[in-house]
Amino acid sequence: MSLPELASARPGPQPGHVYLVGAGPGDPELLTLRGARLVAGAEVVVYDNLVSPLIVELAPAAAARIYVGKKAADHTLPQDEINALLVRHARAGRRVVRLKGGDPFIFGRGGEEMETLMAAGITVEVVPGVTAAAGIAAYAGIPLTHRDHAQSVVFATGFLKDGALELDWPMLARPNQTLVIYMGISRLGEICARLVEHGLPASTPAGVIERGTTAQQRVAVATLADLAGQVARAGIRPPALTVVGGVVGLYPRLAWFQPDAGEPPAHPPHAGCSAIHRGEAADD
Ligand SMILES: C[S@@+](CC[C@H](N)C(=O)[O-])C[C@H]1O[C@@H](n2cnc3c(N)ncnc32)[C@H](O)[C@@H]1O
Repeated sequence: MSLPELASARPGPQPGHVYLVGAGPGDPELLTLRGARLVAGAEVVVYDNLVSPLIVELAPAAAARIYVGKKAADHTLPQDEINALLVRHARAGRRVVRLKGGDPFIFGRGGEEMETLMAAGITVEVVPGVTAAAGIAAYAGIPLTHRDHAQSVVFATGFLKDGALELDWPMLARPNQTLVIYMGISRLGEICARLVEHGLPASTPAGVIERGTTAQQRVAVATLADLAGQVARAGIRPPALTVVGGVVGLYPRLAWFQPDAGEPPAHPPHAGCSAIHRGEAADD
């Protein structure tokens, strides 16, 4: 069976259903085929701030496009109102696509939305997306595992509900492991210090990637000792991902992605961004 035949054998979006679709980390071409097909048949698209506008544009002209963008300190719509919105549109019998950055189930509150929808008796399908860690590491030329450097990978969040940075530091600071931290930029200095305190050498390679996989991608690579300073000097801002471990040392050799500022931005432009170091370490 060919891929188009396979796709047509599966149903497109159904009335009254909600599809939690991972939009990937930025580059719109990283959307899955299933995700693209569901968006193209949607009547309502509800999307976050890290979703590429080019993916939202795949929806039919008549579809309602509802932005519910969330940033840590600036919730455009509180989570319970997003849940209520999804339930309302599904109950009205519409084909609803909930587009979330990266993968819906990785630091995306997809589980919370699904619990609410299912409790309300609504049928939900989840379409995985390329999570930021996988997509951004790939575009930055940082393999998350490598036989010489890392036999395990850990995804952690640097943003906790109550603001406390109470993570399992001994586990995060294990050797021969790659650590990927989502949403950790505002606490970067503290995170690096805690990792060193719990046993990682201060010379461990570490990097931060801003707006990874997009035309605005910038990479700062340093060590745990000086990463926070490099990132501050380069003016790197969220959305940004931190990667720690020996694999980051491969970046200068494996970086392949050449962001092209001539392409349309995959994320809305971020006010206050300073000089761009495209595809290069910020090594001032
Ligand atoms: C709320 S989390 C959502 C993660 C998403 N569900 C995923 O699977 O990638 C948002 C965080 O993901 C990271 N992130 C997402 N897209 C990014 C990008 N293009 N460049 C850098 N970091 C990104 C940042 O750490 C950002 O603060």
